Parts: sequence; C-alpha cells; structure tokens
Amino acid sequence: MKITFFSAKPYDKQSFREANVSHNFDLEFFETHLGLHSVEMISNVSAVCVFVNDKLNRDVLKALVAKNITIVALRCAGFNNLDVEAAKDSGIKVCRVPAYSPEAVAEHALAMIMTLNRKTHKAYNRVREQNFSLQGLLGFNLHGKTVGVIGTGNIGKAFCHIMLGLGCKVIAFDLIANKQLEAAGVEFLPLTDLLQQSDVISLHCPLNEQTTHIINKQTIGFMKPGVMIINTGRGKLIHTADAIEALKTGYIGYLGIDVYEQEEKLFFKDLSGDIIQDDIIQRLMSFPNVLVTAHQAFFTREALQQIAAITLNSIWSLSLDKIPAVEGARVV
Ligand code: NAI
Repeated sequence: MKITFFSAKPYDKQSFREANVSHNFDLEFFETHLGLHSVEMISNVSAVCVFVNDKLNRDVLKALVAKNITIVALRCAGFNNLDVEAAKDSGIKVCRVPAYSPEAVAEHALAMIMTLNRKTHKAYNRVREQNFSLQGLLGFNLHGKTVGVIGTGNIGKAFCHIMLGLGCKVIAFDLIANKQLEAAGVEFLPLTDLLQQSDVISLHCPLNEQTTHIINKQTIGFMKPGVMIINTGRGKLIHTADAIEALKTGYIGYLGIDVYEQEEKLFFKDLSGDIIQDDIIQRLMSFPNVLVTAHQAFFTREALQQIAAITLNSIWSLSLDKIPAVEGARVV
C-alpha cells in the first residue's frame, strides 16, 4: 500500500521511515501543502498523510475521492483544518493522533512562560556580548501565582500537573470538570472568574465555533492588567488585532504564542531572505514582551516517534476496515 505525505520535512521522513520498518508501506514524501494545486501529484495511492496547515475542505476532499483515496491520516491532534461534514459525505476514512506526547506541548508552554518571565533569551545574548548588567531582566516568582488553564484534556492536564509542581495555584475552565485534577488541587471555575483571577493564562482547548477568538477585546477586559497569555493551542483562539491593542497599552504584560492565525503562510518555512508581507506578525514580533515560536510545541523526539507509530498503525487498521487501536484516532 502506498501512502503519500504532504508538508513533509526531513524529520517527518526520518521518523516515518523508522516506524515503517514494521509495516513496509510504500512511502512517498512531498514538501508542498495539500491543496487543489497539489492533488494532481497523487498517483496510485490509497492514503494521504497531512499536517496542521494542509487544507481538507470540501473541494480538496472531492478531488481526493476522484483520485481513489480511501484514507486521510492527520499526523497531528487537532483537526480544525478538516471539513468534517464534507469528509463524512466523501466516504473517506479520516484518522488523527489524539495524544502522542501531551507532555511535549505542556513543557513547551512552561518554556514560554519561563522565557517571557526570566528573559533567558535576552540574558543569553547579553552575556555573550560581555554585558553582565541585570537591568531589564527583572522577573517574578511563579510560586504562589495563579495560573488559569483553558481546556484540561490531555495537554491541559499535563500542564496543570507541571504548574502545581511549581507551587502555583491552578484554576481551570473546561466544559466538564476533571475529577482527578480537582483531587490534585485544581479548582474549576466559570471562564470569567478564571480570566479575572489569573496571573498567567494558558490555552489548551481545541479550535471550534465556541473557542474561536475566545481571547478578544471583551475577554481581555476581564483579565488582570499585566496578565501573561500563552497559546500553544491554535492561532485563531486569539483575536490577534485585539491582543496587539492590549499589548500597546500595556494591559497584556506578556504574550507567548506557538500558533498564529495566519501561520500557514509562514510557519515551517525558512523565510529569512524574504520580505514578510504579514504586518500583523511583524508588529507582534516588535514587542519586547512577545515570544513567538513556530508551532514547535509538539517537536520532541518522543512525540515524533509516537506520531509516526500511531499514524501508520491507524492507516493499517483502517485499510483492513478495523477500528484503530488508539482511542479517538478515527475522526470520520
Ligand atoms: P484534548 O481533546 O485532549 O483536550 C481538549 C480539552 O478542551 C477537552 O478537555 C475539552 O473538553 C476542552 N474543550 C473543548 N471545547 C471547549 C470550550 N469551548 N471551552 C473550554 N474547554 C473546551 O486535546 P489536547 O490533546 O489536550 O490538545 C488540545 C489542543 O492543543 C489541540 O486541539 C490542538 O489544537 C493543540 N495542539 C497544539 C500542538 C502544538 O504543537 N502547538 C500539538 C498538539 C495539540
């Protein structure tokens, strides 16, 4: 069976080739995104494997059906880039990797908090230029601070445990309170209360109709002045223009984003020689208290191994009309 990969990077090729030793699928890798422009590249393939910024809208799914594709595998957890109804209509089976290494993402959220707070990125550069002054590097103790977690699924849960371990007061908002987290000391609150009480807010909910722009002018208004916001979820959870306004007035004290509303035009590419046309990200990157990473929260050795192993196993199961071994892997 042949599987064609889109948005494939060298590290994808390596991890999937290693995991494929136990399957022996025929793997074909394309660096380009999946879209109407690239469907033509597919030939004699049963499955395609895509990533976060590949568009699986109705037109693309129709084009895949015309190419006799029966399986689409998302090698990621979120599936907001998939038109679920169109996928159901198409008859294509779709799987994802519901949880590969929640700790990888949770630990990156912590890395962003610590970088913004203790300014280790600035200290690193400063000391290398023999500037040993501490001026401008003042941080705060995380111990004792209130951390608000929006979405306490796999990643949010791992993040709660990390922050409890640091001695923070952890409060959370989710559609359903998690009993284990409550027993560990996490207090579930309505969203507005969480926004009002948190010193740090970290987003770990999926992007859907209810959560699109969950951080906007109005919800920012509920927050404490000087709040730190961390987003490792999806870019559209934050209304970026509203966040910029609040950064300009100083109301948002720190912003760490691993995901960005318009990231598909930028992330995962080396554009160091290009003129960036996106003025919003350029404005964001001009703030000294904003940290942008390019969707790298998942990017650990352990996560890549898990993603490849689970994806190939799910494709194998779906090709035999079986339920994938990992719960929640089948989307459609
Ligand atoms: P999950 O499905 O285990 O947990 C999501 C949680 O959000 C659930 O507890 C759910 O009840 C809650 N939720 C759903 N709608 C909500 C709402 N309206 N308000 C509050 N909570 C709501 O998902 P997981 O694995 O924890 O991942 C969360 C998100 O993180 C993914 O959807 C994905 O977008 C993002 N992600 C980002 C990565 C990165 O590299 N930056 C890597 C992996 C995931």
